[in-house]
Amino acid sequence: MKKLIAGNWKMNGDSASNAELLAGIVAGLPGLDACDVLVCPPSVYVASAVTALAGQPVAVGGQDVSVQVKGAYTGEVSAVMLRDVGATYAIVGHSERRQYHGETDALVGEKAQAALAHGITPVVCIGETLAQREAGETNAVVKRQLAAVIHAVGHCVSELVLAYEPVWAIGTGQTATPEQAQAVHAVIRAQIAAATEHPERVRILYGGSMNAANATQLLAQPDIDGGLIGGASLKVADFLTIIRAAQG
Ligand code: 13P
Repeated sequence: MKKLIAGNWKMNGDSASNAELLAGIVAGLPGLDACDVLVCPPSVYVASAVTALAGQPVAVGGQDVSVQVKGAYTGEVSAVMLRDVGATYAIVGHSERRQYHGETDALVGEKAQAALAHGITPVVCIGETLAQREAGETNAVVKRQLAAVIHAVGHCVSELVLAYEPVWAIGTGQTATPEQAQAVHAVIRAQIAAATEHPERVRILYGGSMNAANATQLLAQPDIDGGLIGGASLKVADFLTIIRAAQG
């Protein structure tokens, strides 16, 4: 299975800086085709990113997706719309959506299902807070979040991409150690294996302060199939270094 290196730009960038970032990534990619690459700009820039990346081996995704297809849902963007402008992935259930927008496990599952129903691969984020880790609840939290997604997508489990993102490691510079991440990834893999005949098709990304310096060690873990990168995905050199680390 090819690794997947995905950039979550969050609410950053503008037309000029996006063009520069994408041109830099494209210029650095030749020879780095042993992994898949994805960028997820803010929704207003998805279409222009698709245009800028025409013919390039870089996929484009949204950062969220509605459970609805269309209608009176102000502010929402549907999977059909993402697909219409050429996106092929959407991040679903990021901890920032769960925290600031009250997204529940059930809603995240519904969003994953809505994405799959319209040809968008959901990158479903799961992960514990610092308080939950300190209380020894990491595995239970991750399993509960994943169970809701498995329940919602039914027989499509093997089409998911998952991202383990410990909330305490996001944007803090405090990365999970490769051993800490691997331990949780193994738990996730086991739960997926119990839910589909094709667990080997499901990529489990790690996210949370992954950077040019720590990517090699994280990506060397047996159950880490790629990265979902925030801050470091906004810097051409750092993002390319992480893509290079995923070649092995
Ligand atoms: P950072 O890489 O900035 O910690 O963000 C991780 C993340 O939330 C990716 O979705």
